Amino acid sequence: MASKTNGLAANALATGTLVTDTTVDGRAYTDDGVFAEELVRIFTNGWVFVGHSSEIPEPGDYVTRTLGRDPVIMIRDRDNTVNVLANRCAHRGVTLLQQEVGNAVSLPCIFHGWTYGLDGALKGMPQPGGLSIARDDCSLDRPGQTAEHRGFVFANQSGTAGSLEDHLGPGGIELLDWASDLSPVGSLDLNAGWLGQEVSSNWKMWAESDLDGYHLGSLHRSLWQVVPDSQYQAAVMAGENIVKATTRDRGRGHVELEFWRGYDRQLAWLGVPRERVSDYCEALIERVGAERAEELLWQGPPHALIFPNLFLGEMNLAIIEPVAAGRTIHHHTPLLLAGVAPSFNQRVLRQSEAAMGPAGFLLPDDAAAAERMQVAFGHSGGVMDLSRGTNREVVEANGDRVGHVSDEIPGRGFWRHWHHLMTDHR
Ligand SMILES: [Fe+2]
Repeated sequence: MASKTNGLAANALATGTLVTDTTVDGRAYTDDGVFAEELVRIFTNGWVFVGHSSEIPEPGDYVTRTLGRDPVIMIRDRDNTVNVLANRCAHRGVTLLQQEVGNAVSLPCIFHGWTYGLDGALKGMPQPGGLSIARDDCSLDRPGQTAEHRGFVFANQSGTAGSLEDHLGPGGIELLDWASDLSPVGSLDLNAGWLGQEVSSNWKMWAESDLDGYHLGSLHRSLWQVVPDSQYQAAVMAGENIVKATTRDRGRGHVELEFWRGYDRQLAWLGVPRERVSDYCEALIERVGAERAEELLWQGPPHALIFPNLFLGEMNLAIIEPVAAGRTIHHHTPLLLAGVAPSFNQRVLRQSEAAMGPAGFLLPDDAAAAERMQVAFGHSGGVMDLSRGTNREVVEANGDRVGHVSDEIPGRGFWRHWHHLMTDHR
């Protein structure tokens, strides 16, 4: 086994040396230089999830988000186009919108009164006689590329990342389709708002712990004591050689926990018998056909990371926002579906409140572990072992790596892509 110490920290770390097939140098989480490089290579040069179009149903509706550390506005224009704009006045760089969500008829700057339209074009300014640059050059900046799949809006600041389709790959597209197809009208309706928790840990620890199937019985023990009959009981708690749930690396950093393979009944994920949601089941069959509907009713929503910042967390969706090497905001919202009865979405909301949030069963536990990892790695040393399950992982015909639910296949898949982007990619 490799030494568990890596000696003194270098001043400028060579990111290519931090990751092996089964280990991660702790400085990948703690080093300010690594974080700065991630902002460029991953969050500027790559595709990043911004938001879902259902969050802004009416013209003028907006949400404010970040691409890495850069503030952006996702806003619906009068012609229904979804625009992603820099939240930064083209004049002196003041943020235009401060609220996380709202509706605007225009985008005024508080400093000198420059005002922009919903498409980011400059509409007017006080005392325009002194303007010494072309008015056309005064629009708000936009990411180099913006694209949408099933309402999931992504942006690539540099404009050099290739197509969104390439970034998502067949695996990522299948995951977004799967989440959307759970709705009997084929669309999410994310209207509940987001709750963010700022935690003293690196952003990558959230990508890992959200996709770690090994810690459920230990870190989240209190949940099983209170809810002994949840769907996870059969899926992951039944004993190493009994559980059927699996992990899957779909490539390109998109990784998954397949809890559903271990469920012992249909609709286990919703926690209700079929007769309680018969209207929903019938509507689903109507839209996607009986075979796919029966599959969806068994599977429920996916549990997967869309690299780098979107977590499809079953009945929740989360955005991982990097703040600094040792600071992250984990935002989440319940996965509300369009076209279902209000009682259905209320149930999803209650489940979300129980699992997530500062008083929930899951996230406070995960935050504690992540913060203690950040402390443990300190400044100069420590190596994390991610080898679990290399002795039994299987590569399927399409290239997916699959293993036991407790195996660290998602972690290895995440870091394999991270290493690729941080070294030889562009
Ligand atoms: Fe967890």
